Amino acid sequence: MDQGLAADTRSLFVTGLRNAHAMENEALSIMTPQLERIRNYPQVADRLRQHIDETHAQIGRLDRLLQSMRESTSALKDTALSIMGSVAALGHTPASDEILKNSLANFAFENYEIAAYKSLLAMAELGAEGEATELLRQSLAEEQAMARWLDENIGPITLQYARLHASGVEAKR
Ligand SMILES: [Fe+2]
Repeated sequence: MDQGLAADTRSLFVTGLRNAHAMENEALSIMTPQLERIRNYPQVADRLRQHIDETHAQIGRLDRLLQSMRESTSALKDTALSIMGSVAALGHTPASDEILKNSLANFAFENYEIAAYKSLLAMAELGAEGEATELLRQSLAEEQAMARWLDENIGPITLQYARLHASGVEAKR
């Protein structure tokens, strides 16, 4: 590869890794309060719990990659992602249809994460970063599985919400 391109792509890659690190921390700050509030949707709680565990592992992979790029993660300041700010705020607002709003926001966030990992993978492949490619593919597969689960469950969750709502049970969470 062109050496100028290689050096420049490396710095873009590091920026992308840092952004992904901030993104995953934001994912935790969105999912954790949701999990704490859920009462009547145990299947959503189980899947969120699983994905919170996966997200911790994803942060570990990003730490490892940043360290291998000689970037200290202790110096990392994860700034709020303005792009996702409105989606995150949506996730924190207890609304009368909270479970639905959160499900839609989670679907949007997972797809944002998928796009972020695809972008990182393109840069890793350009720079022939072998280990990075493998770690990023693992995280991408987890995001795709979570997005697929939401895709398949948004309909059933909505019907469950409608049934609970009609029967006078607390439906929103
Ligand atoms: Fe995710």
